[in-house]
Amino acid sequence: MTDSRIAKAQLGAGGPEVGVQGLGCMGMSFAYGPTDTEEARATLERALELGVTLYDTADAYGQGENERFLAPFFAAHRDEVVIATKFALTIPPEDPTRRIIRNDAPYIRQAVEASLKRLDVDVIDLYYMHRRDVNVPIEETVGAMAELVREGKVKQLGLSEVTAGELRAAQTVHPIAAVQSEWSLFSRDIEASVVPAARELGVPLVPYSPLGRGFLTGSFANAEKDLTAGDFRRQQPRFTGDNAATNAALLEPIRAVAKAHDASVGQIALAWVHQQAAVHGLTVVPIPGTRRRTRVEENTAATRVTLTGAELAALDAIAAKVAGSRYADMTFSSAGRE
Ligand SMILES: NC(=O)c1ccc[n+]([C@@H]2O[C@H](COP(=O)([O-])OP(=O)(O)OC[C@H]3O[C@@H](n4cnc5c(N)ncnc54)[C@H](OP(=O)(O)O)[C@@H]3O)[C@@H](O)[C@H]2O)c1
Repeated sequence: MTDSRIAKAQLGAGGPEVGVQGLGCMGMSFAYGPTDTEEARATLERALELGVTLYDTADAYGQGENERFLAPFFAAHRDEVVIATKFALTIPPEDPTRRIIRNDAPYIRQAVEASLKRLDVDVIDLYYMHRRDVNVPIEETVGAMAELVREGKVKQLGLSEVTAGELRAAQTVHPIAAVQSEWSLFSRDIEASVVPAARELGVPLVPYSPLGRGFLTGSFANAEKDLTAGDFRRQQPRFTGDNAATNAALLEPIRAVAKAHDASVGQIALAWVHQQAAVHGLTVVPIPGTRRRTRVEENTAATRVTLTGAELAALDAIAAKVAGSRYADMTFSSAGRE
């Protein structure tokens, strides 16, 4: 145990304690260009040493490849880690811009068996509905997920990118241990109704893309120019064309705060997300994604940065100025259905 270990938070009533920052593993196999797999494996180990225990994946990440990649790490540390994976989404390799969403009971049963097999575990700690299929009542979907809890295949249930109404309806069927949605200095739409509903129901928030998919670290300024072919971010409205230049300029106030704390821009972006727990009165466990040891050290250290009220106010002003939506097709987000 070193003093660089992060604090803990509880995931859902009666749920496990996890490190207050999790690790997003998606980029290790999917979406963000080529990966050095040895460094990615070392990153998983380093994260655990630093107190990160919630590891986030999904069946859709590389069509199961990400779950398979993580299996040896989970096998080596089964009692120390909380495994979160997701169903609902298929991204056909022949057309990576397409999204097929299914929430029906037979599909869920098939998906969970496939994830258990790829992860090589008997039980998934936290099983999320990744995206909402509006053709299936949420009560039916959560009912099917609750069956998996009763059968011992899954311990806790989560929902990703749900509206406040969907969360409330789901909670009448089975306790929801976490809502996973995009939340960052650039993406604050969930504060309108999802966050208040989660607070009221006592459901923790697991913010994904808390570093704005890397943009909030200042490590790239224009996805088309700076990122490799096939990188998902090259299709994102915020990181391309004139929007990219507008948004890069928005990092200036973050740089000013970073300088005052002798911290990096990314650490301030993460500290802001962590501090939303106190601002909104709920548990917040962000899952920044990285494939590099030095970055997981940097990101976990952000849990020890405390922003002043004036700094929070300066940072709060940024989101309204962001150019471009967080998805090219906003029906893919909860905000697109509210
Ligand atoms: N539920 C959903 O629909 C959904 C959607 C998207 C993501 N997620 C989950 O959320 C996780 C995190 O989101 P995300 O990966 O999209 O975005 P993110 O965490 O906001 O940013 C990840 C990007 O930032 C870079 N990065 C990380 N730490 C850095 C640092 N200290 N300095 C410079 N660059 C840094 C990473 O590069 P390197 O990897 O090269 O370090 C990667 O390109 C994913 O891994 C996934 O598990 C869920």
